[in-house]
Amino acid sequence: MILDIRPCNAPLGAEITGIDLGRPIDEATFRHIDQAYAQYGVIFFRDQHITPEQHLAFTMRFGELDPSPHTPYALPGYPDILRVTNIQEQGRNIGLADAGLTWHTDMSWREIPPRGSTLYAIEVPEQNGQVLGDTVFASAAAAYETLSDAMRAHLDGLTAIHQYAAKHAYRAKVSISDRSDLERTYPDVHHPVVRTHPISGRRCLYVVPGECTGIAGMPDDEALPLLQTLAERIVRPEFQYRHQWQVGDLVMWDNCLVQHLAIRDYALPQRRLMHRTTIAGTPTF
Ligand SMILES: [Fe+2]
Repeated sequence: MILDIRPCNAPLGAEITGIDLGRPIDEATFRHIDQAYAQYGVIFFRDQHITPEQHLAFTMRFGELDPSPHTPYALPGYPDILRVTNIQEQGRNIGLADAGLTWHTDMSWREIPPRGSTLYAIEVPEQNGQVLGDTVFASAAAAYETLSDAMRAHLDGLTAIHQYAAKHAYRAKVSISDRSDLERTYPDVHHPVVRTHPISGRRCLYVVPGECTGIAGMPDDEALPLLQTLAERIVRPEFQYRHQWQVGDLVMWDNCLVQHLAIRDYALPQRRLMHRTTIAGTPTF
């Protein structure tokens, strides 16, 4: 296999070619992939044909599996693979139908958020030859690195309060899956407003619209506008890469370096089916 890493024309993202994820990957090749993942924040492989077992084995090269909280939507027989899909059987969703419809980084309402996730595309919606259901990624690292020195100094040492219930309320207007089992079962957690990437040491803005309810030790009338300004900055168009899916794509993202947004511009009978795995993370700092 001859690995080639092709950066996207954006401040994040790279396509990796010359690799078949269904075959064993030697340690040296894997190290290149892992480095690209930590460097580009989003990496993707086109035209893959992998079984659930191969998908899990590849994911586990990057770390422990992070169990999904959305267990009713696991692929039958595979509790560590979450189905992200709008497909219904007998009138019920068979997977998470509304994942990622607001900008976010995954599970930042947890004490230890996951390192990242992989999505493997099995069915991709189309209309008149036009692919639908893109995913947009934005570089939280670029958003930080282009701040003024004064703003960086101002943010240094601040921690934001992340709350699942607030996120749930914020996204309720676009939510259709039953997440009532998750509601209010998570205590507030604190994460640094500027998070350091555990591998590269790069610094990234780490605030989430709707979910962050304040900044520790700062009055709300100062903290809330600041959180809003930072959240809007992360998702500026110049910091984005938009992924247009093809069947057989495996895309993976890093939850420290990037935020993401699912574009919901399709509906049944246009079907979208993805298998998602998640890699456990490390404490934020
Ligand atoms: Fe997500």
